[in-house]
Amino acid sequence: MRIVFPAAVAACLVVLAFGSFAARADEAGEKAFKKNCATCHTIEAGKNRVGPSLHGIIGRPAGQVAGFKYSDANAKSGVVFDEKFLDTYLTDPKAAMPGNKMVFNGVKNEQERKAVIEYLKAAK
Ligand code: HEC
Repeated sequence: MRIVFPAAVAACLVVLAFGSFAARADEAGEKAFKKNCATCHTIEAGKNRVGPSLHGIIGRPAGQVAGFKYSDANAKSGVVFDEKFLDTYLTDPKAAMPGNKMVFNGVKNEQERKAVIEYLKAAK
């Protein structure tokens, strides 16, 4: 008991610390998404705005949302929005996919970009 108890306490602390870290990351992601993307995108399946729904975007090829009219540049890009490409795309959408019709300058702050990507990872 004397040995088990401290180990259990330590395990709880680790869980608590990780839990609050995850919560903070979620908050930062939601904030960054609202600030940068939510005017044009939702993370709800099937709900398009000026831009397509980003539900399940991580790991998906470009141009797959039914009912959304993509530019040819997007639809024929042949890219897959894995985390790495999404990071490149969000840094400078026009440079990463020339001719696409997302009128957005990009998220220049790396931490903010990562927060948005983490937020999108959870939206599946
Ligand atoms: C001013 C509106 C606007 C803003 C702001 C915007 N987007 Fe977009 N987004 C679009 C449009 C429009 C498209 C479709 C582009 C095309 O067809 O060429 C698009 C396409 C995308 C795609 C490709 C989706 C697919 O299915 O191929 C991703 C990923 C994306 N946006 C992510 C984001 C993220 C993340 C943010 C915020 C950091 C953001 N966008 C901000 C309008 C916007």
